[in-house]
Amino acid sequence: MPTNHTSPYLPFGDQRTAAWYGKDIISVKQFTRSDLEYVFGVAHEMRGMVARVGTFDLLKGKILANLFYEPSTRTSSSFTAAMERLGGSVIPINEVRYSSVSKGESLPDTVRTLECYADVIVLRHPETGSAAIAAEAASKPLINAGDGIGEHPTQALLDTFTIFEELGAGQVDGMTVTMLGDLKYGRTVHSLARLLSLFRVKINYVSPEILRLPKEVLDEVDAKRIPQAEYRSLEQVLPETDVLYVTRVQKERFEDPADYEKVKGAYVIDPEIMKAAKKEMIVMHPLPRVGEISVDFDDDPRAAYFRQMEYGLYVRMALLAMVLGKA
Ligand code: NCD
Repeated sequence: MPTNHTSPYLPFGDQRTAAWYGKDIISVKQFTRSDLEYVFGVAHEMRGMVARVGTFDLLKGKILANLFYEPSTRTSSSFTAAMERLGGSVIPINEVRYSSVSKGESLPDTVRTLECYADVIVLRHPETGSAAIAAEAASKPLINAGDGIGEHPTQALLDTFTIFEELGAGQVDGMTVTMLGDLKYGRTVHSLARLLSLFRVKINYVSPEILRLPKEVLDEVDAKRIPQAEYRSLEQVLPETDVLYVTRVQKERFEDPADYEKVKGAYVIDPEIMKAAKKEMIVMHPLPRVGEISVDFDDDPRAAYFRQMEYGLYVRMALLAMVLGKA
């Protein structure tokens, strides 16, 4: 991806750094539009620094505890890479069955333990609301890396940064974003719909009936007066779409496996379907994909999902630097 040397974002200053120092990041609801300008400005700087020097010492001597109670490839390894590129180090706890969690230790106790050794905690947990409970127990900053079907705020931040970098920071107002797939259990869309409602976007939701976006999220977006509509088929909205955000059907969250069988493979993006889309648009996916985007589409310039992962590194570097007071 190209590296811009002149930042399209607002310059960042000490006041904003102070605002995030020591804070938890639990929900996208904590962010205003100007916070986003700030985060993305720092992320943009991080991108330039990584391109120039690779690793540098901004967080030298700081330690991150990376506590994952659910599987993860991208989120876990990008937080590790982010900390290491900033000169810090990481305590990885991916296999909680090998930790005292398997002896029945409570989440607050585990978090209190880790903060004795680390300066910041990143937590992924299967229960909605767990990040807020853990943050309450901890006095060091805690970052939510996904709490069940609740939120995934750092993913929504990197998704929005991807949109800014790919389509232009000034272009977000007026855009049409279409979210496709499992909108019920997909925490990334719960966070992204909320975050995008800070902009004058139009949001389309395309899902099977049983995987509609929760009413609570629809109501919050509605309260911001964002035009939104739900559909069962993609064809109707694809031609107007600037950002197509595809998600995986979250098999592990279904109560009845028969329901999963009914809706898996409901939508598949491939080069043929994408003929109906704009030439200047992007297709995103938080990944992993399990068949909802054909690999035949990967070489299309509109396929942004691999670039999206790299933007995630810069956003997570920015967030770590901010909460540790070094942005
Ligand atoms: C997502 C998640 O864990 O919610 N993955 C990720 O963090 N990139 C999406 C998913 O698992 O489908």
